[in-house]
Amino acid sequence: MPISLRFVVPLALALAAIAYAIVPVVDRLTFQWFVRDLDQRGALIAKTAQEPLSELMREPRAAKPRVVRYFERIIQGERIFALGFCDPSGRLLYATSTFPGAVHCNSGPVNAERNIVLQLSDGPLHVSYNPISGEGGAILGQLVIVHDMSFVQRRSADTKKYVFYLFAGIATVVALITVIIAEISWRGWVAGLKVLLQGQTLLRSPESLRQDLRNTAPELRPIAKDLQALVRDLEVERQSRDESQTLWGPEALRRILRQDLHGDEVLIVSNREPYIHTRRKDNVIEIQRPASGLVTALEPIVRACSGTWIAHGAGSADRDTVDSHDHVMVPPEHPAYRIRRVWLSKEEEQGYYFGFANEGLWPLCHIAHTRPVFRAEDWEHYKRVNQRFADIVADEAKTPDPIILVQDYHFALLPRMVRERLPRATIITFWHIPWPNPEAFGIMPWREEVLEGLLGSSILGFHTQYHCNNFFDTVDRFLEARVDRETFSISYGGETTEVRRYPISIEWPPAPLAVQVPVAEARARVRQRLGLPPDVRLGVGVDRLDYTKGILERFSAVERLLELEPRWVGNFAFLQVAAPSRASIDEYQNLDARVRALAERINARFGRPGYQPILLKIEHHDAAQVYELYRAADLCYVSSLHDGMNLVAKEFVAARDDEQGVLVLSQFTGAARELAEALIVNPYDIEQSAAAMHLALTMSPEEQRTRMRSMRNLVQEFNVYRWAGRMLIDAARMRHRRRVLSRARAARRRAGGAAV
Ligand code: G6P
Repeated sequence: MPISLRFVVPLALALAAIAYAIVPVVDRLTFQWFVRDLDQRGALIAKTAQEPLSELMREPRAAKPRVVRYFERIIQGERIFALGFCDPSGRLLYATSTFPGAVHCNSGPVNAERNIVLQLSDGPLHVSYNPISGEGGAILGQLVIVHDMSFVQRRSADTKKYVFYLFAGIATVVALITVIIAEISWRGWVAGLKVLLQGQTLLRSPESLRQDLRNTAPELRPIAKDLQALVRDLEVERQSRDESQTLWGPEALRRILRQDLHGDEVLIVSNREPYIHTRRKDNVIEIQRPASGLVTALEPIVRACSGTWIAHGAGSADRDTVDSHDHVMVPPEHPAYRIRRVWLSKEEEQGYYFGFANEGLWPLCHIAHTRPVFRAEDWEHYKRVNQRFADIVADEAKTPDPIILVQDYHFALLPRMVRERLPRATIITFWHIPWPNPEAFGIMPWREEVLEGLLGSSILGFHTQYHCNNFFDTVDRFLEARVDRETFSISYGGETTEVRRYPISIEWPPAPLAVQVPVAEARARVRQRLGLPPDVRLGVGVDRLDYTKGILERFSAVERLLELEPRWVGNFAFLQVAAPSRASIDEYQNLDARVRALAERINARFGRPGYQPILLKIEHHDAAQVYELYRAADLCYVSSLHDGMNLVAKEFVAARDDEQGVLVLSQFTGAARELAEALIVNPYDIEQSAAAMHLALTMSPEEQRTRMRSMRNLVQEFNVYRWAGRMLIDAARMRHRRRVLSRARAARRRAGGAAV
């Protein structure tokens, strides 16, 4: 029911009830007033007729016709129905022709006035008996005056109608006033509530809550107070019940491991390792940490349970730093878990990583119009490397049912291979890139094997429901499996895989933020470093140099912006940071050349001494440097042609604690499904993207703040710890269910045995 009707309907019902109760009372009262009126009128007529009547009756023989004529005259002029005259013995002597038979002479004392109301079938009659005296005061008889009261009935019906109209009028006016006031108050209230529930009030000091309360409209203060108390209570309750529900952080993950998973063994498998040992030219060994959200999220898990992380040892000094079992304890400063390094020959790396994973699966899953290449020898390497990792997982496992977290498209076959060695393991596979539709996936020569491999997982995760649905469709199309979209699960070969959505995110608060200078300083520093005037507006893009990221489309949009809005020439520059990636693959080399050439062309067209519209930096930047750029920028443009999630979008939002800056975001990223307050664009639409950048550059600080605040709240809540935590919670639920089922089965077996 619309909110305004909730006020109006009860009000109208209450008024209708009052009107219903009041009408009979009003009816009775008006009837009594009319009766009293007729009583007085009867007495008055009798008084007026007294004289002429006694005169006319002086001669009794001739009296009848005269009196009757006199009476007829009176009833024509007055609103009297009939007149009659009774002698003292109660006989009707004279009467008008209209005199009703039901009216009789008065049986009471003749010298007293009497009024009665007769209820007849035609309607009520008012009868008034009035003594008439002759000369000397002797009573001659009684004048009977009959009034028809049906007009009273008519008037009563009118009265009812007026009472009804009156109440309907009152109801309308009151309802209108109520609705208008309620609407105004409601809007204010909802705005306040939104702010409150968006998390601004959550975890704020009592003083700031009190401040809010003082700013609330006086009439809403009691409600606001209650609500704030309620929110605070809920916070406390949620925190005491399960902190992980409120603040997802490393501690929440540790608690899940301890309480829900009872400290069970955890192994992680990924291609990239969390710590890479490299030998510098001066022979000193350095430790690098890849700036990856995945490492941030998974490290607390593996640390808390002293688990094992199995990864490709790709660093130049990796072999020099492991023990005889290829283990190295990390983090170097406080060793808490171990990395098990897996060695790959150049050919294996070429076939498994560069070949099948990055020239085959990568373009296959990203619809970015780069053709996948499928070579049989790459496939053989991919199978062999997956088997090597699977064997190592089985060897490293100390228990028969560990939890194994398998990361990404490098290991599509590994889940089934591990399942064969460790049938009771809980295998959670997360596919970090998109999953295409069945037509697109169907061109892969070994599609059935890849699907069967993945269905060795207990849980298979994607970033978005759309990717989960594509996976369901693909399995439905190519395998004899039972796909259950109600329970989000697939049964294949007697095993069930749950397919779930777990949108990945970044840590909150992001570690690189801790070392940042204030935004104003970052803006000045970055502009100075880039040789830009201090007031120039700056856009940034931060990516691996990959054809899925839409860097060429992004540059074209910048060029179009400068064409359409020449005022930005000299006043706006776009800084593109592109980390070199997979550089031995032809497509990546081509892209490198095309990106450089396009930047040069645009710079030649719009640049001038001291100004280049596109600043291209094809080099690695560490996380702290990238965060400084985010903070110095007026806008960040993420133009991926297809992207599973895209964490740059979330990092930009996390970097802007000043709540300024605009995110322009491709609709083909998983992030666009969460960050609705970004300017969402189709990166292929160059006009639209240019217009979005113009809009970003001219957006008021207030609007920037509103959008940024909302996105920050979301990223804070849906951080990377939640991503990992939700998977672990699902794993715990699954393991618990399996234990209960196997106990029940054992009990049944025992009972069956006893019966035999
Ligand atoms: C994608 C993949 C990640 C990978 C990253 C870097 O985002 O989903 O798993 O870590 O690219 O790629 P690289 O090939 O350098 O590991």
